[in-house]
Amino acid sequence: CGIIGYVGKEPAAPILLESLKRLEYRGYDSAGITVLNSTLETYKTVGKIADLESILPAEIKANVGIGHTRWATHGRPETRNAHPHVSSGVSVVHNGIIENYLELKEKLTELGYVFESDTDTEVIAHLLHHNMNNGTPSCDLLAAMHKTVRDLEGSYAIAALCCNEPDRVVFARKDSPLVIGLGETGNYAASDVTAFLKHTKNVVFVSDHEVGYILPNAIRIYDPEGKLLEKSPETIEWDLEAAEKSGYDHFMLKEIHEQPTSIQNTFAGKLMELEGTVRMNELYLNPEQIKHLRRATIVACGTSWNAGILGKYLFEKLAGIHTDIETASEFRYGNPVLCGEELTIAITQSGETADTLAAVRSSKSYGCRTVAITNVVGSTITRESDSIVYTRAGPEIGVAATKTFTAQLITLYMLAIHMGRTRGVITADEAKDLIVNLKRLPGQIQRILNRKEKIKECAQQFADKRDYFFIGRYLNYPVALEGALKLKEISYIHAEGYAAGELKHGPLALITEETPVVAIATKGHTYDKILSNIKEVKARNAVVIAVANEDDKEIEKYADMVLRIPASHEMTSPVLSSVVLQLLAYYTALAKDCSIDKPRNLAKSVTVE
Ligand code: G6P
Repeated sequence: CGIIGYVGKEPAAPILLESLKRLEYRGYDSAGITVLNSTLETYKTVGKIADLESILPAEIKANVGIGHTRWATHGRPETRNAHPHVSSGVSVVHNGIIENYLELKEKLTELGYVFESDTDTEVIAHLLHHNMNNGTPSCDLLAAMHKTVRDLEGSYAIAALCCNEPDRVVFARKDSPLVIGLGETGNYAASDVTAFLKHTKNVVFVSDHEVGYILPNAIRIYDPEGKLLEKSPETIEWDLEAAEKSGYDHFMLKEIHEQPTSIQNTFAGKLMELEGTVRMNELYLNPEQIKHLRRATIVACGTSWNAGILGKYLFEKLAGIHTDIETASEFRYGNPVLCGEELTIAITQSGETADTLAAVRSSKSYGCRTVAITNVVGSTITRESDSIVYTRAGPEIGVAATKTFTAQLITLYMLAIHMGRTRGVITADEAKDLIVNLKRLPGQIQRILNRKEKIKECAQQFADKRDYFFIGRYLNYPVALEGALKLKEISYIHAEGYAAGELKHGPLALITEETPVVAIATKGHTYDKILSNIKEVKARNAVVIAVANEDDKEIEKYADMVLRIPASHEMTSPVLSSVVLQLLAYYTALAKDCSIDKPRNLAKSVTVE
């Protein structure tokens, strides 16, 4: 979900709508706003922001308001479950989950409150109302918010309005992102900076347990005890241009094309080719600590988890560190055997994924050191980890991760080389060779992008298939997983990624002439093995689409179609093959006329477990 609050000199409704459109990638099954103009006026509907816009009156006179775009967690996507939620004179938008809402609902019902929705959020509106009216005579919305959050268990970023306080939006935060924007003609409170970047780059990040409010020309933030905090504004480097489509049909296509640049930005200042090292100043681990590392555990979800599998192979090969890769949602409820000499590496493009944050907290409780790899400056994970390595891919709006994935891979190569050199597992010459090959990637990706028509034709040819398989070995195994994930996310074709050697243990039973099999068959020490797997599926009449190097002629004997990547080093080719599979997914979804940037049921940032 995404929330926005505005108070200032401008008409509030257009500002709220525009901000909500920018936040839509956080969830978009229903939306609503409340504006305050002597009384509260609330408008909400199922659907996207454009649907909300269509039900608004032509002119709304108000300079203060709050808005919400929703991704359902409690209660189906219905208008009555859309935010804002109102309790006579108090209106609330919320991102997160109130875990004890049933208990609170029971108490509030006994007090006479009538619930209109199935949401957890509605308890916040009624609690605020109750705390204002039954609190001390001077209890205003801010005091009521302080009282209310004490009763809430779970996660929240809240923005609230009260009809008696016409010039302020009160907010609170715990475990859900919230940032304040300081504008020339008004102030903003939002789930992230893209919501108001057009108006201001000056921001203040709200931390967990803080409560405060925005006025037209001032902001106040308090700690849980009510002490006023002095927080200095920060300047955001991204401009709005970077967050817009730049002429591409979809954000996803634009973001695929940004990869030569985003990878270069991720390298920036780190690759020391002459010395054969990678500079990692942000890593708060001294050489002795790196040398004595016994084990690393990578925790992540979704695409970031796929990146983590490559990370495991790289850390083991280049740095000689035993590395486990764990799905964060499993790790957090498991019984990991960890100790203080170990490292946990959390990979999360958003820095807000609830399960990944919980996995980091759990590792810390065992005394592990933590490193976060994330794309979002100031995101929650950056405040919870010992070291933060930013991927610097720039804002990614398409729900399907593309440039953040390859930036994660690049970061993992750099970390592995840095640690491998420190531990003496690879020599300076070996590191130099890898660095040279990493530096070639932006140009090699550009070459793939320049010849994307072939990938488009292939995608169109198989867009009507019901099932797809992706197979790869070793470093190409995570590429196969990510290729399948991309395809299913945006084209809704059932796709499975498999370690090619596992085919014969089940999936082979499903292979027929109707199942295209994408085989990542780039040059390397498992090349001959994947050729054998291609023969296995060909024997079952499958159509084989191979991803192979430009200089590989042999592959044409076995595959029905070949999608090419430039000749490349075995270690770095997974980045190139991933770009091919991103384009394959994109053009398949395009051929099927799917909602590419906003696939059904999915959200960019999953801040609930
Ligand atoms: C959501 C997104 C995915 C992403 C996953 C993990 O499901 O749609 O693209 O891979 O969350 O997100 P994170 O921000 O932790 O990388």
